[in-house]
Amino acid sequence: MSAHNGHLPGIRKDFISDYDGLAGQWWDPRGALAPLGWIARARADYVPAARHDGALLLDIACGGGLFGPHAVAKGYRAVGADLSELSLREARRHGYAETVRADAAGLPFGDASFDVVTAGQCLEHVPDPFAVVAEACRVLRPGGTLVVDTIADTRAARFVSVTLAENVPIPGHPPRGTHDHRLFVNRERLVRAARLHGVELRLHGLRPRLRDMARYAAGRLEAVRIVRTKSTSVLYLGAGTKK
Ligand SMILES: C[S@@+](CC[C@H](N)C(=O)[O-])C[C@H]1O[C@@H](n2cnc3c(N)ncnc32)[C@H](O)[C@@H]1O
Repeated sequence: MSAHNGHLPGIRKDFISDYDGLAGQWWDPRGALAPLGWIARARADYVPAARHDGALLLDIACGGGLFGPHAVAKGYRAVGADLSELSLREARRHGYAETVRADAAGLPFGDASFDVVTAGQCLEHVPDPFAVVAEACRVLRPGGTLVVDTIADTRAARFVSVTLAENVPIPGHPPRGTHDHRLFVNRERLVRAARLHGVELRLHGLRPRLRDMARYAAGRLEAVRIVRTKSTSVLYLGAGTKK
């Protein structure tokens, strides 16, 4: 098994098989992947509207394409890359002009090809998140926008994203084993990696709106709003422009 799907010494997860297996749930508002749809909506706030016809957005590890409708609404021609073929099939049905089966750490695109690059909830599933950041910066054109969101390598994140999220049986909770906390991403290192490749990232904390969570759990709300929070110690997003 290749190293690009989470096989590091001591880490036995095969995330790509997991996401192939979950592919039927990408667009289920009460399924295991529902929170990714909430986060995709929040991510859209950090992506500027397209400045010209045919502006290109690359969505790295696009999964089932939850960000596709947001990219299209902002005026982009969206390209999705992922290793899960079954997820890419879903993405093609949700606004992506093109999808490519590719490893996030070795993208089949030339330098400076895209106006915007997004990588949502991807870095915490790969063995070398900083190699993915380097690739994201490489394919981004100068003046373009990079938006990445992931989970911090903190005890708080381990408790919230693994202990709580994977064990409290409310709709939208991910299956056990979805996350391996050892892959959670160090914030300072992420900022340094992007800076090394020409992008100064500004970090923002995100969290679900608690009142929405309660209403969603009770079946009275279809989706939970993800709002900004001061702390970047659990879910966080980095956005920046390439020099
Ligand atoms: C948590 S999902 C996020 C999907 C999407 N970005 C979203 O926010 O809805 C993680 C995705 O990363 C993909 N993935 C994991 N490792 C990858 C790699 N090395 N290269 C490309 N995609 C990868 C999985 O197949 C899965 O679709």
